Amino acid sequence: MDSLNKADQIAESPVGILLVGGRGTRLAPLTDLAPKPMLPVGGVPFTLHQILQAKAAGIEHIVLATSYLAEVFEPFFGDGSRFGLQISYAVEKDALGTGGGIRNAAKFLAASSHAPVVIFNGDVLSAHDLTAQIQFHRARDADLTLYLTKVKDARAYGVVPTDSDLWVTDFLEKMENPITDQINAGCYVFKRSVIDQIPEGQVVSVERETFPTLLKSGRRVQGFIDGSYWRDLGTPAALIAASADLLQGVINSPATVECNSPTGVGFIDNSAIVSENSLVNEGSVVLAGAVIEDGCVISGSIVGQAAQIRAGVKIKGAFIAPGSIITPSNSIGEILGFAAK
Ligand code: GDD
Ligand code: MG
Repeated sequence: MDSLNKADQIAESPVGILLVGGRGTRLAPLTDLAPKPMLPVGGVPFTLHQILQAKAAGIEHIVLATSYLAEVFEPFFGDGSRFGLQISYAVEKDALGTGGGIRNAAKFLAASSHAPVVIFNGDVLSAHDLTAQIQFHRARDADLTLYLTKVKDARAYGVVPTDSDLWVTDFLEKMENPITDQINAGCYVFKRSVIDQIPEGQVVSVERETFPTLLKSGRRVQGFIDGSYWRDLGTPAALIAASADLLQGVINSPATVECNSPTGVGFIDNSAIVSENSLVNEGSVVLAGAVIEDGCVISGSIVGQAAQIRAGVKIKGAFIAPGSIITPSNSIGEILGFAAK
């Protein structure tokens, strides 16, 4: 492979690593049962949207970097053939952080390959042009190309200033007084050799260690700025809103279930029972085995598997945990799911 000329290297398909090993603390207790990337968003486990997005950008092999509840991914995604690409699983017995997780997952990619490696945070729903990001990476022979977007409040994110030629000048993870509203949107294209330099078998944060080190040593780190739809699904409100956005076509993903509610924009699983006197609308999803009795209004919400919504309950912007029973006297936020903030 080392003898490949540049044109051959450019022709190699990109490969991917999906970071899905986080604990998802802010989504507890939902994440006591399922890791955040397997929670239903747009009617399917969230990771499926990202896998199909990767495939659409020409990625033929993707490694899921798992740790917390690692065992739940493979039964759903298998070897990937059902989705038209190859999927491998890298398990961190103890979580290795984002950088350690990337290094560990890279062992499952062909060692000799020069293909660019696309890293996805496993909780970001975006409509950015990944194909263009990969092209930009190749065109300027970058070591690392970070997808960047702008947000109103950058404090919860990696803050990433760039110069007039889009080269990254600093990387500041979660700062109290952000120096710019431009943030790390959680999708990176790495040159393979840069990943191989991350120390092996250690806890490493790409955000706090790898990125700042690369910048200090003068490596070619650039920003790919894309202002299209973007959401980090780390909070209940964001996850619920993302699901409704998918159903309502605010963002399109081929993985999203088809709307079939007779009473509004919404999806009702075949095995769910919804009274004809109840409304399912504003991008709601009612999952398998759920029951919605008379006179309910379910708006912009996710009703988990086998949940029961008793007569007369009105729910807006909530995630009803699987198996919950909701009566008119329940306060949703208090007991069984989440009310959107
Ligand atoms: N395999 C593995 N191992 N994955 C991990 C680990 C780990 O030890 N720790 C976190 N992850 C995964 C999470 O599952 C998630 O998909 C992703 O890495 C990012 O972790 P979060 O916990 O969601 O980080 P964040 O949202 O606070 O910040 C990150 O995302 C922002 C954009 O959404 C950072 O990358 C920020 O710089 C960025 O702005
Ligand atoms: Mg996150």
